[in-house]
Amino acid sequence: MKYNKIKKIFIEYFKNKKHKIYKSLSIVNKDKSNLMFINSGIIQFKKYFLGIKNPKYLRIANIQKCIRITGKSSDLKLVGYDNYHHTMFEMLGNWSFGDYSLKLAIKYALELIIKKYKISKDNIYITIFKGNKFNNLVKDYESYNICKKLINKKNILFFGLKHNFWKIDNFNLCGPSVEIHIDIRNKKLKKKILGYKLINKNNKYLIELWNIVNIKYLIKNNIIYKNNNKLSNNFIDTGMGLERLCMILQKKKSTYDTDLFKPIIKKIEKILLIKYKKNNKYDLVIKIVSDHIRSIFIIMLNDIKPNNKKHGYIIKKLIRRSLIYTYKYLNFKKPFLFKLINIVYKTFYKKKKNNKIKIIKLYLKKEEKLFFLSLKKNIKIMKKLIYINYLKLNKKFIDKKFIYFLYETYGLFYFIIKKYIIKKKLILEIKKNINNNIEI
Ligand code: ALA
Repeated sequence: MKYNKIKKIFIEYFKNKKHKIYKSLSIVNKDKSNLMFINSGIIQFKKYFLGIKNPKYLRIANIQKCIRITGKSSDLKLVGYDNYHHTMFEMLGNWSFGDYSLKLAIKYALELIIKKYKISKDNIYITIFKGNKFNNLVKDYESYNICKKLINKKNILFFGLKHNFWKIDNFNLCGPSVEIHIDIRNKKLKKKILGYKLINKNNKYLIELWNIVNIKYLIKNNIIYKNNNKLSNNFIDTGMGLERLCMILQKKKSTYDTDLFKPIIKKIEKILLIKYKKNNKYDLVIKIVSDHIRSIFIIMLNDIKPNNKKHGYIIKKLIRRSLIYTYKYLNFKKPFLFKLINIVYKTFYKKKKNNKIKIIKLYLKKEEKLFFLSLKKNIKIMKKLIYINYLKLNKKFIDKKFIYFLYETYGLFYFIIKKYIIKKKLILEIKKNINNNIEI
């Protein structure tokens, strides 16, 4: 099933269940909080849950573009190293503002994935909140009673605050959640270890797909208390990642193998003259570049340019990461990200043209060029500094502090510094954690 159809089925389903369909909010957060980017569908609706405004519709559904690069919910460091985390993803969500309860939300979710998307019940695992005595939070038997009527009892598990209690970054809404996980392993592996043993154990083939949260609590200074709004029992916030859903429905083992990423990866292969799935290091580059270029594009579409200010700095960081990984593993040292923009655009929008594309490409190319220019300049500075501080004084050891200084002040990555140090037969006192603060 192609991603456009997957999206369409979701929207049609909730339309039929009398939900008003909303558009995706601009990815750049415009409220006064310090959240830079929209990181979940609930952001545009939090005012209703907080009682600041009354909703026009009590049932809403949408597909929201989300970015998780900053703050506690950042997935940046996982990208490329696993098969399904992304800096940018689309979240399919439905909301009830005091209308339907968790019971109906679970029924909707299971009906949609079993009847419409045809996911086998045997592959579905559900986790439910087991309560927390310290915070006076009760075990969610209600959800358990509904779920056991819809799927095998053995596939239902209880977890605590860490996994089944959702808190929204920077805002004080929270509540117990019901999570739907899908086992995408082959028959042989499923027989070897039963799926329920692998839930929430970081197994890359037991995918957390849909989070259904009952936003009935508030949290302030780490204290959780009941929301006095009497409708809060029926405050529902849900989110399901489109990329993961595509991976499951298209029977792939990685989101990068779905039709959302394939055209972008093909173009990267062509430009960098490499093949996907032939070499682990190349795959890492392909995954990081194909992920980051989607975020770069979506942010820049909001008229944000690479610079040293808030959002602009994030674009700069993503450009820099993409280029440095490509340089490190492929020794490719030319601007190329701008060449991916046309294809990235096509994976998001049906409309043939957008006037902003030209401008995005121009700014992107300019920034890429600038990156290589300053890299060249900074390598020169590094050589000079090493000469003055070490070679001239006949010192053999380069200390860690100096490496951090080069990274922080001149953006010189460890692998570049190391190359030169080895060439000059200098010895770096390599401590185990040298890479902790320096990326690659
Ligand atoms: N807002 C919830 C999440 O992001 C559904 O997981």
